[in-house]
Amino acid sequence: AGSGKFFVGGNWKCNGTKDSISKLVSDLNSSKLEPDVDVVVAPPFVYIDQVKNSITDRIEISAQNSWVGKGGAFTGEISVEQLKDLGCKWVILGHSERRHVIGENDEFIGKKAAYALSQGVGVIACIGELLQEREAGKTFDVCFQQLKAYADAVPSWDNIVIAYEPVWAIGTGKVATPEQAQEVHVAVRDWLKKNVSAEVASRTRIIYGGSVNGGNCSELAKKEDIDGFLVGGASLKGPEFAVIVNSVT
Ligand code: G3P
Repeated sequence: AGSGKFFVGGNWKCNGTKDSISKLVSDLNSSKLEPDVDVVVAPPFVYIDQVKNSITDRIEISAQNSWVGKGGAFTGEISVEQLKDLGCKWVILGHSERRHVIGENDEFIGKKAAYALSQGVGVIACIGELLQEREAGKTFDVCFQQLKAYADAVPSWDNIVIAYEPVWAIGTGKVATPEQAQEVHVAVRDWLKKNVSAEVASRTRIIYGGSVNGGNCSELAKKEDIDGFLVGGASLKGPEFAVIVNSVT
């Protein structure tokens, strides 16, 4: 951990019921969380209101996606304005599941990021390579291309957290080693320095996601350029999520 306040997000993905979420929120509300950490949870859209109304103010709310522009005749979509209305401070964009399962491309994701920022909603901007891309030595190229799409679209980096999530580590139990994650985080920071500014490079938080759990978080958190985590599976268990929040060093 090095740049800015440690940031831990829980991406609940498409999981939960009213009952299971009420239990998770009550576990989170009774957990002791280190004060110097930004803690954010991202429930499915349909439970955002329930969570916002029951969770402690200590924890901020993120959405897992948003529409690319102002709302209107876009069946099945949710606008940034609606997310703000529900009290969301953040939105996760460019998640690998949206890129590779739903088929969103760089340009569309960049536009979504720009629109969310224009409405004052912070963006957790995901990037990350597939296993075959890593094996072909293309990790940096892929990450830089995804970064460039954000950089080309957004007017400012003030309200962006970058989440490096190697796709081969997501939901697989195969966490990146602290060295593997650190190597990419340094490269991302360097890219920002060369292509955005030294100031943005030094203050932008770069968090790691992919099979983070209560057992591996503290070794990862020791790395200079790992400024927090985006947690999937382990964020569905309140006590374990608290351990990850408290791994800040
Ligand atoms: O966005 C977080 C995520 O993709 C990581 O998921 O289950 O590997 O922690 P998981």
